[in-house]
Amino acid sequence: MFQHLSPLAADPILGLMSAYRADSNPHKIDLGVGVYKDEAGDTPVMRAVKEAETRLLASQKTKTYVGPAGAALFNEEVAQLVLGKTLAASTRERRCTFQTPGGCGGLRLAAEFINKSKPGARIFVSDPTWANHIPLLGDAGLQIEKYPYYDYGTHSIRFDDMMATLQKAQAGDLVLLHGCCHNPCGADLNHEQWVAVRDLALKNGFTPFIDLAYQGLGDGVEEDCYGVRLLGEALPELVIVSSCSKNFGLYRERVGALTVLCETAASMKAAASLIASTARGIYSMPPDHGATVVEMILQDSALHADWEQELTQMRERINGLRTLLVERLHAAGVERDFSFIQHEKGMFSFLGISVAQVQTLVKDYSIYLVDSSRINVAGINHDNIDYLVNSIKKVIA
Ligand code: LMR
Repeated sequence: MFQHLSPLAADPILGLMSAYRADSNPHKIDLGVGVYKDEAGDTPVMRAVKEAETRLLASQKTKTYVGPAGAALFNEEVAQLVLGKTLAASTRERRCTFQTPGGCGGLRLAAEFINKSKPGARIFVSDPTWANHIPLLGDAGLQIEKYPYYDYGTHSIRFDDMMATLQKAQAGDLVLLHGCCHNPCGADLNHEQWVAVRDLALKNGFTPFIDLAYQGLGDGVEEDCYGVRLLGEALPELVIVSSCSKNFGLYRERVGALTVLCETAASMKAAASLIASTARGIYSMPPDHGATVVEMILQDSALHADWEQELTQMRERINGLRTLLVERLHAAGVERDFSFIQHEKGMFSFLGISVAQVQTLVKDYSIYLVDSSRINVAGINHDNIDYLVNSIKKVIA
């Protein structure tokens, strides 16, 4: 049965984690996988998460099954976090939210559900997009098309080209959009561009599918939902997958959600039943622990405030590092203009160097980053920045 199999190459992002761990160079720097790191290079459990976990341990009375949709209260809290209270209320009759095993589980559940509703539906994804979007969506049966997004020369969004390609997207097609903190390039749509996307969706009838994996790490918890809410207010249908991996630091607990807005309450009921049976056929029901922690934090005003305060510090640290990196590269006499890094959002930016130069950084300097030259800015700190800047300077000289 398995004799014919050969090992596959390591995952381009997750493979970097094990390579970094195995490296004994004391100067090594991990700019690979998208996890938040503090000044000491650690990824701590957030204060509110620790407190909620303590309370949960003391109060939980059962571990009986929940159901394919997960916890109803978590779903409502997450819907409000993403849509805002007003839109969450006005769409209540035509909206459903499913707790999912992380953002990846949400993306796959959405793709399987869509493929059951419309087999082989086309989904337009940005070029570039997060590498794992392709198997998560494509292996479910969706047909992947690309739209131009990032100009590597000017480090800006190819908006005219993007919109020209999206003219082809029609009713029955989907368009995947990064809600904020675009992964991998960090270049986000501005308000005017979101409005243009909304208008095109209204005119052509395609269904936007928003991946919101970094809410709170761009401009703010509310600000990062501008696009989601703009589209949710105007469009008959919308698919949103959100994640609590990064903004609650719950990576390994697998906490995410799939929210679907339908045109009518009747179509939502039918869609919800199909999503539930799809979840049942894949993983039956999502894991409980992390979602209950999120639910407790969002339900408790003191924990909620503390979570948001810590998230703000994380965001500000990343933004500060963006500025610092640009300044230090300049101060080190690097002539190339890296100022774009300062204006991009979230954890990621491309350095804009070649694959060979990336490989040199990895092999000769123990600086780990994805071949595309995507860096996780949160992996920089005051102790490693000089080594990083000098290494980049030598590699691009
Ligand atoms: C990343 O892009 O590094 C993160 O989303 C982690 C992952 O699963 O790839």
